[in-house]
Amino acid sequence: MFLKSILAGLTLAVSMTGVALAGDSCLDDTSKAGRDQTTAAKFRCATCHQFDPAKPPTVGPNLHDIYGAKVGADAKFDTRYSKSMKDAGAKVAAWDDANLEAYLRDPKAWLVKVTGDANPVNKMPPVLVGKPQADIDKAVVEILAYLKAIKGKADCF
Ligand code: HEC
Repeated sequence: MFLKSILAGLTLAVSMTGVALAGDSCLDDTSKAGRDQTTAAKFRCATCHQFDPAKPPTVGPNLHDIYGAKVGADAKFDTRYSKSMKDAGAKVAAWDDANLEAYLRDPKAWLVKVTGDANPVNKMPPVLVGKPQADIDKAVVEILAYLKAIKGKADCF
């Protein structure tokens, strides 16, 4: 009897864990680090960007599959990119770690460097510029990890 109730308790605990994990299923991991990535990325970026692949772009392009993608290539945002972002797309192969990191740290500076235009049209505000250096470094790491974690996974949202 006693053993039976322990077993019942265990089964319940296991199935409850199963339910909790299912909710986070799309991220690489269900650890605290995985959830922090979500929080960090959405907190800073979701005012203008969608991460759900099913949603049309809002103020900025949809970022669900941005990691490793071509620059300025969200088809549903195509006519709304700045000319500078389109120019950058012709010069840079993809949004790899280095390009994403530099763009996030300072969008205008990245466009100047990549396009060679000293006065590029930059439509994305410098959201991280001016923040404490440690916060910027942490945000960049978390956002990149988040963008990698959600890429290609449609069931997260
Ligand atoms: C106030 C609105 C706004 C916020 C906040 C914002 N962005 Fe953007 N973002 C834009 C716009 C608009 C563009 C298009 C830029 C252009 O065409 O020059 C863009 C472009 C981008 C691109 C290039 C996408 C592509 O299709 O090539 C990336 C990557 C990006 N943003 C990441 C982020 C991340 C990560 C954050 C959060 C740290 C963020 N953005 C916050 C408005 C915003």
